[in-house]
Amino acid sequence: MSDAKKLAAEKAIDYVQDGMIVGVGTGSTVAYFIDALAAWKDRIAGAVSSSEQSTARLKAHGIEVLDLNATGPLALYVDGADECDAHKRLIKGGGAALTREKIIAEASARFVCIIDPSKQVEVLGRFPLPVEVIPMARSLVAREILRMTGGQPVWRDGVITDNGNWILDVHNLAITDPVALERELNQIPGVVSVGLFARRPADVVIVGGQPPRVL
Ligand code: A5P
Repeated sequence: MSDAKKLAAEKAIDYVQDGMIVGVGTGSTVAYFIDALAAWKDRIAGAVSSSEQSTARLKAHGIEVLDLNATGPLALYVDGADECDAHKRLIKGGGAALTREKIIAEASARFVCIIDPSKQVEVLGRFPLPVEVIPMARSLVAREILRMTGGQPVWRDGVITDNGNWILDVHNLAITDPVALERELNQIPGVVSVGLFARRPADVVIVGGQPPRVL
């Protein structure tokens, strides 16, 4: 599987252009992308990072990390996913970086998602849906999610996000209307963000393989 991740990540370099500021996601697939981006470090204007983990890897390669408030809108965002459906709607957040990932995806004109074939699904929800919550709202949000969806929220014990919050992973969902579920879960007080990327899906999906498939 790591070969497929690497092949997808290296194909995403095709979307990088001279002078760009590149939005960079989080995870093991993105780690390969950052390594490939290192060859471009003198040709790009820098990167906007979605996590402390990616920031450390970018800096280790000598790639400048910039503040999204200073850069304004980005031309390109490259990130992985935990699940991807045929409409390029995603579940993300397995690495707990969903909120910053969602912010950068929203700020970007083109979102290129890099996955291995195991991430492709017909219906989203087999992978437990990550939801970032304000700590004091954890039980409240869990009860509401159970009531609204019937899914089982499980606290990702011991994990604190880069924003100082907690994660609930919602099990046993079959998400037939991802846009509606994303909207509804976002309404619960205490929810910071939901790991459904349906309202703003990926624009391009690269599935790693020999050769990679571009969807
Ligand atoms: C990080 O929070 C996630 O959204 C990742 O993009 C997702 O978990 C994919 O990770 P891998 O590339 O490690 O499979």
